[in-house]
Amino acid sequence: MELHFKIYRYDPQVDKGPYWKHYKVAAEPEERILDCLNRIKWEQDGTLAYRLSCGHGVCGSDGMRINGTCGLACQKLVQDYQCPEIVLEPLPVFKVRKDLIVDMDSFLEGIHAVKPYLISSHRGDKEIPQTVEERKKVDAVIRCIMCACCTASCPVMHYNNKYIGPAALVWAYRYIFDSRDEHVAERLRQVDDPNGAHACVNHFECTRVCPKGIPVTKSINLTKKLIRDTFHKD
Ligand code: FES
Repeated sequence: MELHFKIYRYDPQVDKGPYWKHYKVAAEPEERILDCLNRIKWEQDGTLAYRLSCGHGVCGSDGMRINGTCGLACQKLVQDYQCPEIVLEPLPVFKVRKDLIVDMDSFLEGIHAVKPYLISSHRGDKEIPQTVEERKKVDAVIRCIMCACCTASCPVMHYNNKYIGPAALVWAYRYIFDSRDEHVAERLRQVDDPNGAHACVNHFECTRVCPKGIPVTKSINLTKKLIRDTFHKD
């Protein structure tokens, strides 16, 4: 079948402003949007810029807005789009570096700020045991691949650029609820902030778009509850 693509193009070093470019590509229904992009780049327009690496929903590189919804181009199939035209745009919220590539620095800094690693005084060659129930608390969130689809989709990010964002809160949750971590109080204090967990007002867009099925909003709400139970009981 022949597909029509409308793709956002913008090279800030050359172009006066963004513009749309149209392409036609032949593709099978079970092929991925990423396959179509590759075909456009390899066969029609080598100047088109986008990120990819694994091609299989593991690295999180190819997050973009596809027909208005953020997702991974390697996970979306041609047959998912029964429409005359497929519109590809860079992830919103972030600054565009070129075409479908955005600047991820602020996003990664936000995750780095919540110390996305285990803090424990445990030393030695023995592992720290966890019960099945303890492990279950973080089972879903460890699937995060930092694609930024959640943060880019969050309506709060559009009016509050100080908000740490859903992805950083997922990473905060990942260690707050890890039974082996010893910095829970400090972690909770950090996200107990108007621009931390409290900025989330339950739009659920993050949860809807997460390509790994992480219950992002639920994890933020559980963090808020723990903040209340720990610091604001009265
Ligand atoms: S290319 Fe790695 S997640 Fe899509």
